[in-house]
Order: sequence, then structure tokens, then C-alpha cells
Amino acid sequence: MTDNYHTTLVTGVAGFIGFHLAASLLEKSDKVIGIDNLNPYYDVSLKKARLERIASHPNFTFYQEGINDLDALKRIFSHHRIDRICNLAAQAGVRYSIQNPFTYQESNIKGFLNLLEMARQFPVSNFVFASSSSVYGNNKKLPFAVEDSVDTPISLYGATKRANELMAYTYSHLFKIPLTGLRYFTVYGPWGRPDMALFLFTKSIIDGKSIDIYNFGKMKRDFTYIDDIVDGTISALNSPFMYEIFNLGNSKVVELMELVKIVQEELGIEAKKNFLPLQPGDVPETYANIEKTRRMLGFDPKTSLRTGIRKFLTWYRDYYKIADL
Ligand SMILES: NC(=O)c1ccc[n+]([C@@H]2O[C@H](COP(=O)([O-])OP(=O)(O)OC[C@H]3O[C@@H](n4cnc5c(N)ncnc54)[C@H](O)[C@@H]3O)[C@@H](O)[C@H]2O)c1
Repeated sequence: MTDNYHTTLVTGVAGFIGFHLAASLLEKSDKVIGIDNLNPYYDVSLKKARLERIASHPNFTFYQEGINDLDALKRIFSHHRIDRICNLAAQAGVRYSIQNPFTYQESNIKGFLNLLEMARQFPVSNFVFASSSSVYGNNKKLPFAVEDSVDTPISLYGATKRANELMAYTYSHLFKIPLTGLRYFTVYGPWGRPDMALFLFTKSIIDGKSIDIYNFGKMKRDFTYIDDIVDGTISALNSPFMYEIFNLGNSKVVELMELVKIVQEELGIEAKKNFLPLQPGDVPETYANIEKTRRMLGFDPKTSLRTGIRKFLTWYRDYYKIADL
């Protein structure tokens, strides 16, 4: 393990995971250079509010730039002695990639290649990047293990994440850049993403609107709490490998209706439910085998779903100023 006091570039720093990671690195006395293009894929004021929480930290510098802008990246890498990269900037979302494919090409393919090129020109001690459970597509063998074949992602989003892993392997091989990809599994928690199930359900239930439940509720997800994800990501940043891939999941499968049940119980409101078929690109089940992550990164997810949901709801009520329900 290397020591702390690094200068870490966190891309996607105004995003859900990037913000939490940056806050945690700053707490550990790292310098953080943050990049985010603050795009309007979801409510920009939420991205700005996250940034405001860390903006005044003396060890934090923010650039509103896109990782798809090579000249901007060159300026930033020339100006700072960046010794680690954590690339979380991406166009996320499975369903959105059906309608907006070129956004994924810009941020996830071109942007990622730009960062690999930066690491080639400005050597770093480690480069960690977000992959996704989406690379497993409709794999039938469960739980998903990193040794499994991932040649058949079923969304362009999943395909771009798999492409990142392959590009990373090539750059580690050719230019001896330490690169690690983290396959995140359905991350949730305070300051979470408004396009994801827990946020959507909470908002609709509180607003008295019906919630859309896909595949008629027959969905299973490995929900992973944000603090566990940040711990796993920091372990990866502290453990350079020439090339590795890890699953970061809770390794517990939760039925979608169980999630709905807990949210209803915690809010004390019965949801109006709108049952719908499976959406194109969506997979019915995700489940992480984290044996390798435990062994090599000491990863040990600790947060139960109910505890995590409570923390999310406490934040949601506070942020959106919802007094009593
Ligand atoms: N949240 C999850 O459950 C989950 C699961 C699997 C993988 N991931 C991956 O983890 C990473 C972080 O996800 P998140 O949930 O925090 O998403 P997020 O959308 O909240 O954060 C991504 C941030 O990147 C920024 N961004 C997008 N394109 C950019 C570009 N070209 N240049 C600069 N900034 C750009 C966005 O403005 C956003 O603030 C992403 O790569 C995502 O694909 C997330």
C-alpha cells in the first residue's frame, strides 16, 4: 500500500460518487483536483450543491471542463503535479443510452482515451476508473465474477464501460501505466442520483405520484452503499496494479419489491404502483462475487440496505426541506 498525501485528479467530481470520494480524500489530507462539465443530464443544482460542500476546502481545486476536451486536460496536467487519476466522469444510465448514443461516445470513449493519453504523457502512480456491473449483460452465471466472460453487454452504456476496460489493458501493457477498473453495482446513498430507482421511488411516493416498477417487479439488484464504494475506491487508489478489474458490490441480492417495501415502511406511505415490462437494455438481475476484491483490496461492505435507505431518506428530507410526511 502506498501512503496518502497524494494529488488526486477526480473526474466527475460534482457527481454522486465523485463528490463523496473527493470529500473523503480531502479529509485524509490529499489534494484533489476536480473536473466536471456540470452537464444537465440531471438537475445541475444538485451537482452545484454537492460542489459547494467541498469548494472552500484549501486542498481542493475545481475546473468546469469536459474530459473530452484534450486541450483543457493538457492545461490542467501541465499546471498540477497530478500523481493519481480516478476517472468517474461518464455519461451514466442504461436506458438513456438507447436514445442518446453519441453522448456516450464523447464522454465514455473519447474522454477516457484522452485521460489515458494524459497518463502516458504525465506519468502517474495509479489510475483507477469506474466500470460497471452492466458489462455482465444477461450473463446467467451468478454471482457475477470478474473471471466470467463479458463479451455480450446489452446496452451501449455497458459496451462503453467494457471498452474502457480493454483500452486500459492495452495502455497498461504498452506504456506500463498502473490501471484498475472498478465494476460498481447499483450505488445508493445521500446525495444520490435522481435518475436511479431509490431516488425516483422516494420522490414519487412523497409527491403522491405512482412509481414505475419494471419487469413487473421481477428485478434483483445488488445495492451498494456509497460509503462502502468510497472505501473500496480508496483502497484501489492506494494499491497500484499493472492491470486489474474488481467488482465493488454488496454481494447481497435484493428484490426490487423489497426495496419498495422498505421505502414505504420508512416513509410510512403506501406507494401507488405502475407495473411495466422490462425496458430494453435493462438486465433482470445483478449480483457481485467480491471474493477477489476482499482478498486483494480488503474490501468489506458493511451497510445493510435498511440502514442505507434510512440515511438516504434523512438526507432527502433535509435537502428538499420536507418536514413531516
Ligand atoms: N451510481 C451507480 O450505481 C454506478 C454504477 C456503475 C457504474 N457507475 C459509474 O460510476 C461513475 C460515477 O457515477 P455517478 O453515479 O456518480 O454518476 P453521476 O452522473 O452522478 O456523476 C458523473 C459526473 O460526471 C460528469 N460528467 C459527465 N460527462 C463528463 C465529461 N465528458 N467531462 C467531465 N465531466 C463529465 C457529470 O456532470 C456528473 O457530475 C460513472 O462512470 C458511472 O458510469 C455508477
